[in-house]
Order: sequence, then C-alpha cells, then structure tokens
Amino acid sequence: MAINATNDRMSEGFADHRDETRTQVQRLEEVFAALDRPAERREDPVIDALEAERATLKDAIEDDDMLNMAYLTAGMMTERVEMTAYEGLTSMANQLEYSDEIRKPLESNYDEEQSAYRELSAMESAADMKSLWDRLTPS
Ligand SMILES: [Fe+2]
Repeated sequence: MAINATNDRMSEGFADHRDETRTQVQRLEEVFAALDRPAERREDPVIDALEAERATLKDAIEDDDMLNMAYLTAGMMTERVEMTAYEGLTSMANQLEYSDEIRKPLESNYDEEQSAYRELSAMESAADMKSLWDRLTPS
C-alpha cells in the first residue's frame, strides 16, 4: 500500500513497514519451501478492497489532516486483517504440530503486523494528529 501522508512520522512508518513486508514475504517463501510446496502469488480481495477504499478516500478528502487520519485508519484495518490471517495460520501450524521452521516465521510476521498496528494506533491520539483534534474540538 503506497501511502503519501503529509505527516513525516506516518510516512516513515508506512515505508518502514513496507520494507518489513518484503522480509515477511521471504519468510513465507521459506515456509512454503519447508512444506515442499510452491509459493504462488494470489490476489486477495479483502486487501484489494481496503486499497480501493483508501484510494477513494484519497480522492474524496482535501484536508491533509483528515487525509492523514484516513490513512491511519486504513493502515490499522490492513494490519488487523493481516494479524488475523497470521493468527489463523499459526493456529493451524500448532494444531498440525508443525516444526519451528514453519511456526517461527509465521509468529515473526504476526509480531511485526502487531507492532505496526500499535504504532499506527499510538499516532491516532498522539501529537501526530494534534492539529486535527485541535481544529475539531470546540474551545
Ligand atoms: Fe502489515
């Protein structure tokens, strides 16, 4: 998800997580290799829908602070979806008593998704969004 937030901390956070995501893909490829299965690229309609929603909001919102808030929310939704996917995969790996070679990469990816979610969530109420909250809060 390419996001050009006007908030520098937010933009850097999205860029950092994009790099983490590349590492996550490598981990998943290692999981497939350990399972002796081909890793195949597939479309994901849920993630595609979230991206479509983000693009719609980008076109509809002119205010930079409001757009940053929309990006925060879109990012948090994406991280929650990803966390849920890894929870399910980890649960299956545990139920099937797969080795750490399978489980650890899934857990590492989950941890990074959770960390990304928490960082976005913290920005929601922190100084990053202060100008928006100041404008929206009656004085
Ligand atoms: Fe993520």
